[in-house]
Amino acid sequence: MIKIDLKAASSFLTDAQMKEFTGKALAAYDTLESGKGLGNDFLGWDHLPSEDRSQIYDSIDEICGKWRDLGVDLVVSVGIGGSYLGAQAAIEALSHSFAAQMGGKGIQVVFAGNNLSQDYICDLMDLVEKRSAAVIVISKSGTTTEPAIAFRILKQSLEAKYGKKESRNRIAVVTDAHRGALKSLSEQEGYRSFVIPDNVGGRFSVLTPVGLLPIAAAGFDYRAIMKGALEMENVCSERSEDNPAVEYAAIRNALQSIGKQVEILVNFEPRLRYFGEWWKQLFGESEGKDHKGIFPAAVNFTTDLHSMGQYIQDGQRFIFETVIAVENSCRSMKICNDPQNLDGLNFLNDKEMNECNRMARLGTKLAHVDGGVPNVCVEIPEIDEYSIGELFYFFEKSCGMSGYILGVNPFNQPGVEAYKKNMFALLGKPGYEEAASALKERL
Ligand code: PA5
Repeated sequence: MIKIDLKAASSFLTDAQMKEFTGKALAAYDTLESGKGLGNDFLGWDHLPSEDRSQIYDSIDEICGKWRDLGVDLVVSVGIGGSYLGAQAAIEALSHSFAAQMGGKGIQVVFAGNNLSQDYICDLMDLVEKRSAAVIVISKSGTTTEPAIAFRILKQSLEAKYGKKESRNRIAVVTDAHRGALKSLSEQEGYRSFVIPDNVGGRFSVLTPVGLLPIAAAGFDYRAIMKGALEMENVCSERSEDNPAVEYAAIRNALQSIGKQVEILVNFEPRLRYFGEWWKQLFGESEGKDHKGIFPAAVNFTTDLHSMGQYIQDGQRFIFETVIAVENSCRSMKICNDPQNLDGLNFLNDKEMNECNRMARLGTKLAHVDGGVPNVCVEIPEIDEYSIGELFYFFEKSCGMSGYILGVNPFNQPGVEAYKKNMFALLGKPGYEEAASALKERL
């Protein structure tokens, strides 16, 4: 099970500050559990792991089986924000670091519809052309521009290659149960469709088919992810100062109160790089509103100790870090002897490389604490489905509480609309004419 260690962070705070923010976190816990707080119509994520969802799992298994029977070896998962980050985080965490280059059997999952780059989509079409492809298109609203454009292009390409009838077997939709353009298209075309529950927002949706379908397509055990999440649902449902989600929500807000405005999520495992992207969206979109919020950033150590390390150690003192520590590596590699020892590293002979990584982590923690950077540690035993499920649920639960401590609605995202309005006006969407001329004058 995950363990949280706050010692190197609480040492920056007084007992009174710790007590104050633990009280606030417990009050936030009560608000969340009462279902009466801001955004309370979006709390469906809270009990997803403990609900009976066997029918959904059967459908996920069925379509993945069908794709395997069809010889599909590439699934393009189309979606943006909460509609792709969790799946990419899990798949990258669980995959061989060089999966793309290694080739091999099974379905490879790639992501699209999360940018508007022409070069990216052209490169993707080269790949789709060469492989036996299927597409999962994921959009809760069903109207988001980036995935809608990518799906138009992919749909046309599948239909040209496989014909309209077979393409229907190669396309799955994850969207709202009742509304949206994607829902209508899916009904019209007869695509296999999965529902994003009304009461689950995008960035809290990884444990619905939004995350589980691409993860299953990639061949990972999503049921084990749900088991890990269930363990955390149970642990985090206790009204207690020792509830890790309460502890984390309390400490990050306490640290912000002493001027630590930026939180960096740190990993020492390249496979967790995308987990940092998922976490940034979760906290950034949930808390960054009403001119409030801790700014979430993410770094990959030891890589970024040679780029961002200087700033973290010695720049402005507004940072704290949360480290995801992985106790055991999945594989084993010992450092070998070199008779010449020109690099002077023979003292490491026969040591596991993971030992170097662990000492780098502990050494960095002490150096950063000495430099004025509080350090929160979230430890998992190893990177596997169970631990990834635990982490997803733990951070979601903490985020809900943390948003309530800040006094914002953690479950909306009004700020995301601003760029869309301008983009539509500049692209000449009917109805945006007035806004377009005002904007063009400013360019
Ligand atoms: O967290 C959120 O709600 C957002 O990041 C959405 O997931 C993102 O904007 C994509 O929206 P949709 O799934 O409606 O296409």
